[in-house]
Amino acid sequence: MTIHIGAAPGDIAETVLMPGDPYRAKWAAETFLQDARLVNEVRGMLGYTGTWNGHRVTMQGSGMGMPSLSIYANELIRDYGAKTLIRIGSCGGMQDKVKVRDVILAMTASTVNSPSSGFFRELNFAPCADWGLLQAAAQAAGKRDIATHIGGIYSSDVFYDERPDLNEQMVRHGILGVEMEAAELYTLAARHGCRALAVLTVSDHLGTGEALPSDQRERSFGDMVEIALEAAFS
Ligand code: HPA
Repeated sequence: MTIHIGAAPGDIAETVLMPGDPYRAKWAAETFLQDARLVNEVRGMLGYTGTWNGHRVTMQGSGMGMPSLSIYANELIRDYGAKTLIRIGSCGGMQDKVKVRDVILAMTASTVNSPSSGFFRELNFAPCADWGLLQAAAQAAGKRDIATHIGGIYSSDVFYDERPDLNEQMVRHGILGVEMEAAELYTLAARHGCRALAVLTVSDHLGTGEALPSDQRERSFGDMVEIALEAAFS
């Protein structure tokens, strides 16, 4: 048990998929895992462990934003021995070529401010995905009928952003989408010698204002879970 995770030692798999929403962790576990059982419900941040094609997998909610994700990822890595952490979540599209429902595999995650910023002081660390996971996810996505983009994303520390000029800079620099967790996940994975990747569905578009209707979110989410699982065990 840790401060934020009630799982017993050994209850967490080495491979952890992390949706922001704990109910997504429940849905993914019930839909994709065999013998899934609840291993954490502290603060309602549900976590389940089961097997996929014989491999042990944990689905653990991260909450929204880098400070929340940092708590769960730190405890999963340092206390439970997690080795592969894949964020499965949504993002806002930033380029014209990126459409709602598309999948983004985040090669890098830029950020203005993450929980690690203070630690790095003047250094601009470049958080990046694990290459093997990224390559495997690209292959898994390629087998499906989903438009997939691979490149840089922006991990913002605010959803209600009072700095639209910053989004503009991101767009000008080819950033594909904006979310709020990946940069810290990549940084923590680098620090602890783990593998990390963010597989994201475009749920809305900052340029067009289009948003994915809620009845279509489940299918997109299912595609992401499958891509993440295939990538983890390829
Ligand atoms: N901003 C930040 N995070 C997001 C967004 C957004 O527009 N859409 C989905 N996640």
